[in-house]
Amino acid sequence: MRVEASSSAFREAMASFPSGATIVTTSDSDGRWWGFTASSFCSVSMDPPLVLTCLANTAQCFPAFAEAARWNIHVLQHRHADLAMRFATRGAAKFNGAGFQPDADGLPFLKDVSISLRCATYSKVDGGDHLVLIGRVEEVGMGEEMPFVYFRRRFHSLPAGDDKAAGKSGPAPDRASLPVVIELDLGWM
Ligand SMILES: Cc1cc2nc3c(=O)[nH]c(=O)nc-3n(C[C@H](O)[C@H](O)[C@H](O)COP(=O)(O)O)c2cc1C
Repeated sequence: MRVEASSSAFREAMASFPSGATIVTTSDSDGRWWGFTASSFCSVSMDPPLVLTCLANTAQCFPAFAEAARWNIHVLQHRHADLAMRFATRGAAKFNGAGFQPDADGLPFLKDVSISLRCATYSKVDGGDHLVLIGRVEEVGMGEEMPFVYFRRRFHSLPAGDDKAAGKSGPAPDRASLPVVIELDLGWM
């Protein structure tokens, strides 16, 4: 199938690739905090340890991230669904009462997430209508709870204890233990 710019076939294909959901945060030169919800997150390199995320050129937080020397990535859990929506809403009071604390560099940092990565900007690459932000991971935090899965514009929780069962034979997880948390219609893939 031929794919045109912004074609629905491309969007549907990308929406059908499961990922997690993250909140990426930084601070600008005036100390103002910025952040956005991102499902574009993956590892790039082991040595040095690099990850990437992609930010739309049209995002309000774009200038802050384009200039940032550092940023943080937080991999979200089931209970962060509302926060993920908030950070995907342009103009929302994203940090109000959300529990972020300044890290050692004054950047917004959220404890008690599944994974947190403190990153220094390694490079920025033109990615069409997005900017690919590549960060060198300088600190890793691992939480107790499983992350949720973003798939076909819905958040799904993973069955409790599934990580402990990994690699062992046994009954397949009950489909009923994979509840849909929230359905999104924010124009994101
Ligand atoms: C689950 C989910 C994943 C998203 N992933 C990305 C992403 O990887 N990159 C991106 O630029 N926007 C992504 N968005 C949309 C942004 O979070 C949203 O447009 C945000 O408001 C942009 O920041 P701004 O408020 O500063 O404009 C995603 C939204 C959702 C709901």
